[in-house]
Amino acid sequence: MRAVTLAHEEDFDGWRDAARALVLAHVPPEGVTWSAGDSPGDLFGEEAVLPADAPAFSVPRPFVTLARAAICHRDPQRFSLLYTLLLRVRAQPRMLEDQADPLVRRIEGMAKEVRRDMHKMHAFVRFREVEEPDGGARYVAWFEPDNHIVRTNAGFFVRRFNTMRWSILTPEVSIHWDGERLTEGPGATQAEAPEGDPIEETWKTYYASIFNPARVKVKAMTKEMPKKYWKNMPETALVGKLIAGAQAREAEMVERSRTKVAAEVRQSGHDAAGAAERRLQPGGNALAAWQALLEEARGCTRCHLHKIGTQTVFGEGPVDAPLMFVGEQPGDQEDLAGRPFVGPAGQLFDKALEEAGIDRTRAYVTNAVKHFKHEMRGKRRLHQTPQTPEIQACRWWYEKERELIRPPITVALGATAVRQVFGRAMTISSLRGSAHQLDDGGEAWVTVHPSFILRVRDNREAEYARFVEDLARIGERVKALA
Ligand code: URA
Repeated sequence: MRAVTLAHEEDFDGWRDAARALVLAHVPPEGVTWSAGDSPGDLFGEEAVLPADAPAFSVPRPFVTLARAAICHRDPQRFSLLYTLLLRVRAQPRMLEDQADPLVRRIEGMAKEVRRDMHKMHAFVRFREVEEPDGGARYVAWFEPDNHIVRTNAGFFVRRFNTMRWSILTPEVSIHWDGERLTEGPGATQAEAPEGDPIEETWKTYYASIFNPARVKVKAMTKEMPKKYWKNMPETALVGKLIAGAQAREAEMVERSRTKVAAEVRQSGHDAAGAAERRLQPGGNALAAWQALLEEARGCTRCHLHKIGTQTVFGEGPVDAPLMFVGEQPGDQEDLAGRPFVGPAGQLFDKALEEAGIDRTRAYVTNAVKHFKHEMRGKRRLHQTPQTPEIQACRWWYEKERELIRPPITVALGATAVRQVFGRAMTISSLRGSAHQLDDGGEAWVTVHPSFILRVRDNREAEYARFVEDLARIGERVKALA
């Protein structure tokens, strides 16, 4: 009997190395016991060491994706189940497509629970601010996941809160980010986490605004946001009150939004009748939430760009837009006007949208980065491409916009937008022309940035025509999903 001890509960790399050695040594599933320690080492209790010249073998990519998620499940059997599945997939590479297979079903179910748990962690972690010995701030959160997801999920928090020092404490492990390095420590208890108001105190307005009394279904709410998370979240302090006053609030809100939206539509001159109509529905308070968000974003100092740009250029458009466009960052004219895509690239964009039959006033248009990054050359302000830390710092706003608008379709215009929308760098050519699924359930499309067409020397007309073609296809897709 072989005994494999993995470094920790989420040790996919360790599992993969061990599984590979076991496969090559023809060890059947019942010939191995699996466990996870909390320190690296002792991969094999016995002799099953992978020889240096062991032949490599590959497995279908969907297996790797599935195994990476399922390995985080709390079920102690998962290592062994995955090993059994690996052997079967090697014998029969397409077996994962067989959804009726009990093992495939069981492991798919585990992976699904893990993804859901990871999503909950993204949504429900709440930081409190504590002072460090050097006088700086550290943001500390307490969280109790259902599965072993903390290490696997750490990258999300590193990207999102890249410029802050933070710690997430959980019963199994704690993780700490110092702005450059991620380290791990032992598990903690809730008593070790700071108490008091989370830093999101100012967000109460925002949460109160997005709270939709017309849709209060306590059962559904507790399912989506299990009570165990409530105590850590600022908005939940409001939940009782909000539910109690839901009906009165609803009536009042309908009345308020009727007057307000009508005035807005008159004032803006936008014929956003459809959007306005929808906002008049009971519970249509997304506009107030968006305004609270805009106010917060105006004071954003999450990265150094606020010192360079004139102002935050936030997204704009109806809060119930079925389509969200994401550009790179405001340019010179946008920075002065405080609105996205109004300069030369914006004009080309408008023209292309019109030719593609898309009504810009029905779309939400925003940027991956909301301040104008540039350098001075004499009196001219020359555009500089935003770098990863700036894109990551701005992710906060982008995600808040998404949470509010929940666009069924999102279009990334150019490489910086791709980075923000997909959370990592990918080539436009590999993504262009087809739909891609996003983690939040939306669909993403990718095309070039309009300024690429302004810059390109050869074949500009052909590039423009292709851009319009992309937009037209996306417009059709929006109609199909409506
Ligand atoms: N380029 C962008 O990416 N966004 C703007 O708002 C303007 C130019």
